[in-house]
Amino acid sequence: MDLFEHQAKELFAEYGVPVPTGKVAHTPQEARAIAEELFSAGSKKVVVKAQVKTGGRGKAGGVKLADDAAEAETLAGQILGMDIKGHTVHKVLIEEGSAIAQEYYFSFLLDRANRTFLSICSVEGGMEIEDVPHDRLGLVPVSPLDGVDLAKARAIAEAGRLPAEALDGAAQIIERLWSVFTDEDATLVEVNPLILTADGDVKALDGKVTLDDNAGFRQEHGELEDKASADPLEAAAKAKDLNYVKLDGSVGIIGNGAGLVMSTLDVVSYAGEEFGGQKPANFLDIGGGASAEVMADSLEIVLSDPAVKSVFVNVFGGITACDAVANGIVSAYKLLEGRGESVNRPLVVRLDGNNAELGRRILTEAALPGVQQVDTMDDAAKRAAELAAAGA
Ligand SMILES: Nc1ncnc2c1ncn2[C@@H]1O[C@H](COP(=O)(O)OP(=O)(O)O)[C@@H](O)[C@H]1O
Ligand SMILES: [Mg+2]
Repeated sequence: MDLFEHQAKELFAEYGVPVPTGKVAHTPQEARAIAEELFSAGSKKVVVKAQVKTGGRGKAGGVKLADDAAEAETLAGQILGMDIKGHTVHKVLIEEGSAIAQEYYFSFLLDRANRTFLSICSVEGGMEIEDVPHDRLGLVPVSPLDGVDLAKARAIAEAGRLPAEALDGAAQIIERLWSVFTDEDATLVEVNPLILTADGDVKALDGKVTLDDNAGFRQEHGELEDKASADPLEAAAKAKDLNYVKLDGSVGIIGNGAGLVMSTLDVVSYAGEEFGGQKPANFLDIGGGASAEVMADSLEIVLSDPAVKSVFVNVFGGITACDAVANGIVSAYKLLEGRGESVNRPLVVRLDGNNAELGRRILTEAALPGVQQVDTMDDAAKRAAELAAAGA
C-alpha cells in the first residue's frame, strides 16, 4: 500500500523527522482557513499540494505557492478536481512554505536482486531520481542485521556528497527514517526533496512510503487505507478475504493459484479476440482450499459486476482435489439461492488434475442450470468468450 504525502509526513513527524507544518483540505474554503492559521503563525508563504499517489505533481501543476490566504483558496480551487496522470485530486495539503537553499534526494528501499536493503542519497534532488546521473548517486547497502545508527546514517549522507553544513541534520533524519522503514514494515521510504533551508535546517519536504501488505497483520495501518478511491467490488472482496482485482472485460474468472489465474487471463484474452475482443473481467484466485463458502463468495463477487456476461471457473486439482471443488460449486449454488441470489449467467467449468474424473461426474449429475463443462483450458476459454459475446 502506498501512502499519500500527508500520511507519510504524519508518520515521519511521529518519528521525530522534521517536516513543514500543514493540514489537509477537501474544499477551497478549508484551504483558506488552514492558510490563515499558517500565516498568523508566522509563515511567509504557504504551499498548496495535490494529494495523489503519483510523483511529478510539481511539474503537472499540482504544487503551487501562495502569498496570502485568498490566493491559497483560489489555487486549491484550481488543484482540487485536477487529473494528474490518471489520478483525480480529492484533497490538498496546505503547508508552510520553506525557504529552500538546496534540494537533495534520499531513500531506503528493498533491493530484491541483491537480497538486501539499500539506501540511495544524492546531492541532486527535487527531480525524478531516474534523471540523476548514476555517478551522482550514493548507493549504500544496509544489512537488516546491522541496521542504521547515527554513524552509518552519516556515511550514507556523505556517500550522497551532501555538503558539510547539511550532514548533521541529514544523518539524524536518515537514522529516524530507518526506524520508520523497519518499525512500520515499509518496502520504500523516499524523501525527494530533502532540503537544506536558508536557516541551515534539514527537512523532509516530500514523502513517499510504501508499506508491505504482507506484514499488515502485525501493524495497525487500517486507517491509512484510501477507502475513497478503492473500487467497491475490490473492497467487498477484501472484506471477504478474497484475492480479487477488477479488470474491464466481460468474462469473469475464478481459478485456484495465482499462476493459473494469470495464465487464464492470457488465454481468455487470446481466445476473446475471435469474439469481438472479449476480455477478462477480473482476477480472482481462490487459493488452495475451495470450500463451498469461498466458492459462493467468489461467484457472488464476480457476478455482482454487471459487465460480466459469462464466468470461467478454471481449476487444477492438487491437494484440494477436483471433487472437493465440484462439491464446492454445487453447494455454492445452494448457498447463493439461500441468500436470495441466483447464478444468472453461464458458467464454464474446467476441472483437471487430482480427481478430475470424479469432479466432472459430480457436476454432471448435479445438472446445475447454466453450467457447462469443457475439458481443456483453451477450449473452455473459447467457450466462455463465445458466451460472453452472445450475452453482451
Ligand atoms: N513546503 C514547501 N515549501 C517550498 N517549496 C516546496 C514545498 N513543498 C514542495 N515544494 C517545491 O515543490 C517541488 C515539488 O514538490 P514535491 O512535494 O516534491 O512534489 P512532486 O515530487 O510530486 O513533484 C519541490 O521540489 C519543491 O521545490
Ligand atoms: Mg517530490
